[in-house]
Amino acid sequence: MNPRVKPTWTADDSARLYGIRDWGAGYFDLNAQGEVAVKVAFPTGGVTVSLMDIVSGIAQRGHAMPVLLRIENLLDAQIALLNDAFRRAIAEAGYRGEYRGVFPIKVNQQAQVIEEIVHFGARYRHGLEAGSKAELVLALAALGEGDLLICNGYKDREFIDLGLWAQKLGIRCFFVIESPSELPVILERSRALGIKPLIGARVKVSAKVGGLWTETSGDRSSFGLSTTQLIAVLDTLKQEEMLDCLQLLHCHLGSQIPDIQDIRAGVLEACRYYADLIREGAPLGTLDLGGGLAVDYVGSRANDVHSRNYTLDEYCADIVEVVMSTLDPQGIAHPQLVTESGRATVAYSSLLLFNILDVTHFEAVDLPTSPPDGGHELVRNLFRVRDDLATTDLQESYNDALYWRDEIRELFKRGQISLRERSLGENLFLAVAQSIAGRLDTLARVPAGLQGLAESLADIYYGNFSVFQSLPDTWAIGQIFPVMPIHRHLEPPRRQVIISDLTCDCDGKLDNFIDARGERKTLPLHPLNPGEEYLIGVFLMGAYQETLGDLHNLFGDTHVVSVRINQDGSFDVMKEIAGDSIADVLSYVEYQPQALFESLRSSAEAAVRKGTIDIGERQRLLEEYAASLRGYTYFER
Ligand SMILES: Cc1ncc(COP(=O)(O)O)c(C=O)c1O
Repeated sequence: MNPRVKPTWTADDSARLYGIRDWGAGYFDLNAQGEVAVKVAFPTGGVTVSLMDIVSGIAQRGHAMPVLLRIENLLDAQIALLNDAFRRAIAEAGYRGEYRGVFPIKVNQQAQVIEEIVHFGARYRHGLEAGSKAELVLALAALGEGDLLICNGYKDREFIDLGLWAQKLGIRCFFVIESPSELPVILERSRALGIKPLIGARVKVSAKVGGLWTETSGDRSSFGLSTTQLIAVLDTLKQEEMLDCLQLLHCHLGSQIPDIQDIRAGVLEACRYYADLIREGAPLGTLDLGGGLAVDYVGSRANDVHSRNYTLDEYCADIVEVVMSTLDPQGIAHPQLVTESGRATVAYSSLLLFNILDVTHFEAVDLPTSPPDGGHELVRNLFRVRDDLATTDLQESYNDALYWRDEIRELFKRGQISLRERSLGENLFLAVAQSIAGRLDTLARVPAGLQGLAESLADIYYGNFSVFQSLPDTWAIGQIFPVMPIHRHLEPPRRQVIISDLTCDCDGKLDNFIDARGERKTLPLHPLNPGEEYLIGVFLMGAYQETLGDLHNLFGDTHVVSVRINQDGSFDVMKEIAGDSIADVLSYVEYQPQALFESLRSSAEAAVRKGTIDIGERQRLLEEYAASLRGYTYFER
């Protein structure tokens, strides 16, 4: 039981409990029916659509859970917010340079997402950042004349040739030098093709940033030039009389930077580099500050790894202010500002929806009121602990219950106690432990030995999804995403839960959740209603998750449905991409589905010969096998 639920429960109570109005950034809230709704702003006013209505539209189109839902309007809105915030900061400060955003493709490479970003970003001339040859190839097809393309990462000759041709097409394609070895190839290919390159230099700023990437920031960052390497690049360009090509300075402090002071310190250091390169004769003109703009996943607006202690407006204003205050005293013209915000651009627009398939409770069932006649002494001891609970110290009761339960387990191993007696003992232990957990709220101070008790008794809800496929960062780096049911918010969520996925892996679970008071180990959820789906949403997961996901246990890509919400409150399903079939995932790991079918066909044929199955059964088996090959990798009702 969740001790924090009130007898009368409203959507506002739920909103507070799950923090949706804090992390939802105005995009998500609860409606009067107690359902999560997405809110979209139009010039004529806001429109709210229930996720349950979208889910039912998805089901009518034949897609089972789990589904990755993309809401195009939110991508559109985030691009507008970022660009407008920079434009405002620039206008307010009297900054004499413009802002150009680029989207780092690695943050979400899905064709549909990139198409949407290029489409919605066109009015701001929002460009792209490519960190590999494959990303460059897709960017070249997506961008047009005058668009900005920043090329980071290691570049071979083919990469450089493509980038140089892009420039001929009018794309402003910058090669950002990450390592000194790239420069000779750029110079050689530029001479060979007769195309002058646009060059950027990526510097390692020494300022370290907080957050999950702190260890790879500063001097230990794997990318960027040290001061010695920067000078070598500068001198080579001078010798080759190509210093005029050095038109961009780049730095990337890290992703998800929670503290605005770290951002200010990094930008200031970048500006010092900028000023000195200008003094050295480089024309520059563009200052690219990389990514790092954080998403407030918990809604606490704090200097915490999953949050940020600044607003978007503050981020933009501070960058503009630091650049001006560093360059103005030196009489240096204001550069064009570029940022490569990935996470903040796409996180909000995608959410994972899945259903709960089953539950394990850790509580006593059908417990007799008194020990059975002739019951084992150890079991009788446990009954006594339970009956004396009200008058005994809670820690002492727990110690005793644990002791007697473990003794019972020992005797069972030695064959001195029966399975039924052991089961009764385990049941009694759970009854005592649940009862103690329920009383902890009455204590002024919870004893250390009882502090994890409620969590250890939490239900396990089995979700129809794979952490490794859909939310890899929760497993890999302990990322927290907001998780909550998308309906039933007029009922109190009385269960404390951890969510296990479908993989046979004990790491395949969600057991760290956001809470108004910080993080919590269990999530309050509703008891399942028989015959009714219980639907969970994982929000703000549009960044990094889709391509980092893997095929653990051969759970493949989920269905993806992209919707656009209209001004009249209706929505259009813009795209539906079927998730991987079993044949798809098997072929990813080098099986040939046709050969598998053939192999089963000959086993079935042999079984018919032996008389183990008849021809009709053979047919049914093969039809079901073929249907499974075509089917979804997730649990189907
Ligand atoms: C060079 C570069 N630019 C931009 C980004 C995107 O950062 P973020 O998602 O924090 O905006 C990254 C990611 O770490 C990066 O390495």
